Amino acid sequence: MQLGVNIDHVATLRQARYARMQGHANVEPDILQAASACERAGAHGITVHLRDDARHIQRADVERLRASVMSKLNLEIGNTPGAVAAALEILPDDVCMVPENRMEVTTEGGLDVVDAGEALARSVDRLHAAGIRVSLFIDPEAAQIEAAARLGVEMVELHTGAFANESREQMRELQRLHQAAVLAHRMGLQVNAGHGINYSNIALIRSLPHVVELNIGHAIVCRALFCGLEQAVREMLAAMNAE
Ligand code: PXP
Repeated sequence: MQLGVNIDHVATLRQARYARMQGHANVEPDILQAASACERAGAHGITVHLRDDARHIQRADVERLRASVMSKLNLEIGNTPGAVAAALEILPDDVCMVPENRMEVTTEGGLDVVDAGEALARSVDRLHAAGIRVSLFIDPEAAQIEAAARLGVEMVELHTGAFANESREQMRELQRLHQAAVLAHRMGLQVNAGHGINYSNIALIRSLPHVVELNIGHAIVCRALFCGLEQAVREMLAAMNAE
């Protein structure tokens, strides 16, 4: 399994102090330093979410990352004209389309591909025309997977949030993820997964079939406070790929 490290919360920490002082000499922590620490530790990609309210990652961060990320840059965006235009200008390797709601603390549910209509299809076509691979962040439901396949995207990212948050129903949620991974793979989609994955639940996530890439952010950035980002990434990679 490959690891995309979501470094949004490195920017969250910076914004907590420097949101209105970006030109300040001490602006830290530096997003590029974080990305290269992840890469040195063996991460297969760097993921950031350019939210409409730019509460953590700024457009300038994505531009700087594009110029320096050596592995793979995965940009998460909502399907808004501004975000799609930014992706078309910056040209990340991959775009993951997510639902976005200004009031949420973090992405709450999967994208409704079934009822997304023409607007999503148009964005996918424009991203493809620019040579960008497209992933859709969806709940592990057959109808969403089938709709994603009809849109011609390369990948789906299965939302693991219900699995991560539902301690009583965790095994049922794991079973749903398992079935979704099998179906998505059968339909020719690359299977990725993410949201709420941590150093404990990775042992169960690892058992899912066909998963190529995990996108993990919060748990890695939290562990990095105590052992450093490189070590936190190394530990997650080891946990993901343990025998
Ligand atoms: N994948 C997607 C599509 C997300 O929106 C997020 C959260 O930004 C993640 C993965 C990472 O989630 P977490 O920070 O809980 O690891």
